[in-house]
Amino acid sequence: IDGTIKHWKGAKQDVYSPICLKDNDNKQVKLGSYPILTQNEAQLALDSAVGAYNYGMGEWPQMKVSQRIKAVENFTFKMLEKRDEVVNLLMWEIGKPLKDSQKEFDRTVEYIKDTIEALKELDRKNSQLEIESGLYAQIKRSPLGVTLCMGPFNYPLNETFTTLIPALIMGNSVIFKPPKFGVLLHKPLLEAFRDSFPKGVVNTLYGSGEELLTPLMKSGKIDVLAFIGSSKVAATLEHHHPKLNRLRSVLSLEAKNAGIIMPDANLEIAVNECVTGSLSYNGQRCTALKILFVHENIVGSFLEQFNAKIDEIKFGMPWDKDVQITPLPEKNKTQYLKDLIDDATKKGAKVINKNGGTIKNTFMFPAVLYPVNKDMRVYEEEQFGPVVPILTYKNIEEPMKYLMESNYGQQVSVFGNNSDEIAKMIDSLVNLVSRVNINAQCQRGPDIFPFTGRKDSAQSTLSVSDALRAFSIRSMVAIKESPENKE
Ligand code: G3H
Repeated sequence: IDGTIKHWKGAKQDVYSPICLKDNDNKQVKLGSYPILTQNEAQLALDSAVGAYNYGMGEWPQMKVSQRIKAVENFTFKMLEKRDEVVNLLMWEIGKPLKDSQKEFDRTVEYIKDTIEALKELDRKNSQLEIESGLYAQIKRSPLGVTLCMGPFNYPLNETFTTLIPALIMGNSVIFKPPKFGVLLHKPLLEAFRDSFPKGVVNTLYGSGEELLTPLMKSGKIDVLAFIGSSKVAATLEHHHPKLNRLRSVLSLEAKNAGIIMPDANLEIAVNECVTGSLSYNGQRCTALKILFVHENIVGSFLEQFNAKIDEIKFGMPWDKDVQITPLPEKNKTQYLKDLIDDATKKGAKVINKNGGTIKNTFMFPAVLYPVNKDMRVYEEEQFGPVVPILTYKNIEEPMKYLMESNYGQQVSVFGNNSDEIAKMIDSLVNLVSRVNINAQCQRGPDIFPFTGRKDSAQSTLSVSDALRAFSIRSMVAIKESPENKE
């Protein structure tokens, strides 16, 4: 563990890039390998994290906030030295466009800096209050314990660090498992972890999540589960914990964000935002627009402009300029998406764009499905890929009913120009989803905004200051003034 991978003698897993360098050649490029840890080794990581925390008596949880900030700053400095290496691996491992891979790295560094500033601010607020005459209180934030962190493949660096960093800086010890895709890019950072934090505070696990994490959860020694991914996996992990009431879960899960295009919408804006909103990085974003409701009066012009815009989309290798559609990292993803498309077309929808749904090696060209209805799988399932289902609506109650009945509640985008009508809708929409975007696509950033969701979309709120709260508990020292003190 702790940066000693190169001396690893045990079993290894080879890592292949989703990128095939030759057309019509399914040979994916081999990028390297990682160790497959055994359950015993995972147990060592757990012991190490439990020991470093030591019921809150460890060096790290007892350290002054200013010293923990220094350690994280030191880590960030070392991390910056590895930028090119990490960005390159990010691009090759998950096929993310070069520009977006660079953005992911830089955004992560920015996130760490914002976290440090937010913690300084939070710490400043720990002032002494006189709560009643002669009784004083000092309120502060204290760590929770051993945190298990896991991020998703689409943001393997950023979304691992959006939980790992706040957990760490609040004084928790951490075990983190890189996602299945986007695993090698963590390797260049392991030494920086080892050199910046006391021994046992950061522990990295490589191998099968199911095999390694089940016994960790069953041990009851995980105090916080920080997971970004599917709600099914989150629920399975949680239920392995013998005392659910002792576990804090910080979860960011699935979404099926809807776009509602009203009859008076500016079509150019709506089309541009809906195309990037549904298809950037192949639609593999939890915040992507995954279903579009277009008013029946404008659906003809909307589809025409939408298709024209899709025709302009560039697909190619992640290093190609302005590329949007790149190879898909998940092996069986193209088959799953094809099944969704087949199901919709059997039930009456058509793929209405040129070459829509065409598969070449690990690429899939976007498929626009219209008209979609609620009997189709794509109406409910989160496709997490380049498939855009479109429906028409007559009354606004129709998309509202969709949102009310959906299993998800992350975001919605509304395109329109009637400010009174939109203002009225906002009051209802904020009770259904956690972010309403007006004339703009759905997205997570800027990262200082709260990022959360309702129903199966999230539990707890991430993003900088909210995350600091999620990984800590408020504790208080109450001091009663004694007659001696008075003088
Ligand atoms: O996959 C979910 C991410 O949180 C999406 O973030 O909106 O910045 O792409 P983004």
